[in-house]
Amino acid sequence: MRNKVIKAIFPVAGLGTRFLPATKSIPKEIMSLVDKPLIQYAIDEARAAGIKEFIFVTSRGKGALEDYFDSAPQLEATLRRKGNTELLQTLKQTTMESGEIAYLRQRDALGLGHAVWCARRLIANEPFAVILPDDVIAAEKPCLQQMIEAYAETGGNMVAAMEVPQSDACKYGLLDVKEDLGRLVSVKGMVEKPDPKDAPSNLAVIGRYILTPNILRNLNKKMVGAGGEIQLTDAIATEIEASDNVYGYRFEGTRFDCGSKGGFLKATVAFGLEREDLRDEFSEYLHDLVGAGKAAQ
Ligand code: UTP
Repeated sequence: MRNKVIKAIFPVAGLGTRFLPATKSIPKEIMSLVDKPLIQYAIDEARAAGIKEFIFVTSRGKGALEDYFDSAPQLEATLRRKGNTELLQTLKQTTMESGEIAYLRQRDALGLGHAVWCARRLIANEPFAVILPDDVIAAEKPCLQQMIEAYAETGGNMVAAMEVPQSDACKYGLLDVKEDLGRLVSVKGMVEKPDPKDAPSNLAVIGRYILTPNILRNLNKKMVGAGGEIQLTDAIATEIEASDNVYGYRFEGTRFDCGSKGGFLKATVAFGLEREDLRDEFSEYLHDLVGAGKAAQ
């Protein structure tokens, strides 16, 4: 029987330079869409997919992230005294059981592949998921859950994929498709951030992966790839050559690139409009804003 995927790696050691100066002292993953930090969306998605062990690859200056998952006795006592059970319940969802969460340090930001490799001893010989919290996916069924269900049929390695305009190819890892089976595609190659004219397809990899321990062995070689970084894409591409068991999965849902300012703003608007307590006031404001913009033209 296929091993269940119960471990997930959350690489959060990047410098977040696109959000400076905010990220000088706040980890990007703590920044919030409305009132929920990016990392909480990632954790909720992982839990829904059956993940039981949460492995964070962090770096210097990410202490706020560790505190976020801890209990907050003073805050909780105050809320209890005031009888605010709703907020107490909200806080409860943010704390992790002892032993459920592990933090590892990536000493130097050598790339996503290197960050994943840092967790090799905790993964040992099991399949595992990787979730990039910058990619927030709004979906009826959480994206990782969709992938785990598909993985139950395929095994091997699976990456979340979505169509992107050719001009954006240089921002992503792109799939070279062997066979297109609809939601699922089998993959014969992967290339990280190609020149748009060399893109093998318009199917880009985004931040959800289910991987075999072989990927960690490939990362042992510490190959330096695009942008001078150790790329996860390269380790997966090596696996395609060796075992031909890599799949792309066209997930159902909308992905927001919250690692970029534009994407973060779009997500803020989309999630704000989803909220019952904010919807009326916020949509009226947006409506007036657009109307005023049109009138000024
Ligand atoms: P990004 O490419 O978004 O880099 O990393 P970044 O450093 O977070 O942000 P910018 O580009 O400087 O604004 C994608 C994911 O990989 C992690 C990041 O934390 C993010 O979740 N990462 C990247 C690491 O954990 N370590 C690295 O060395 C690089």
